[in-house]
Amino acid sequence: MISKKMQAAIDEQINAEFWSAYLYLSMSAYFERQNLKGFANWMKVQFQEETTHAIKFFDYVHSRGGQVTLKPIAAVDTDWKNNVDIFNETLQHEQHVTSLINNLANIAVEEKDHATNSMLQWFISEQVEEESNVEQILVQLKMIGDNGYGMLMLDRELATRVFVDATKTAAP
Ligand code: FEO
Repeated sequence: MISKKMQAAIDEQINAEFWSAYLYLSMSAYFERQNLKGFANWMKVQFQEETTHAIKFFDYVHSRGGQVTLKPIAAVDTDWKNNVDIFNETLQHEQHVTSLINNLANIAVEEKDHATNSMLQWFISEQVEEESNVEQILVQLKMIGDNGYGMLMLDRELATRVFVDATKTAAP
């Protein structure tokens, strides 16, 4: 059985993961408006990933005999200044999510909840990958600057990203 405190904290995280999904779908719409289909695809895959993160927490609570209470999803931004701006926000957001996951792990330790702590290790590894992927794109965007050919090449590369449900694997 999961403690009330742990369950409430995971409820918050389910909301944060769905909010992340909504944010990335909004970013995908932004890139569709810019006619950058590869960037739009990359963000849509982010959206799908975040949804699976929320469901991993959702299923976990139920597997421990807990109950999930879903909360409203807050509004997200719909416009950004430029591509560097949007990826800066993405990186800051993922760093924030990392801090939320670390906080959940702290609560699991306080509650002596080893099962939840074990489940969270998947998310801790996932966040390392998430931050690294975004940092890499941000570096490339800064290198490209106003170079249209560079943007075209990066857009083509990001178009190849395919969604894989990594929550089904032991570690990301
Ligand atoms: Fe669910 Fe992007 O971390």
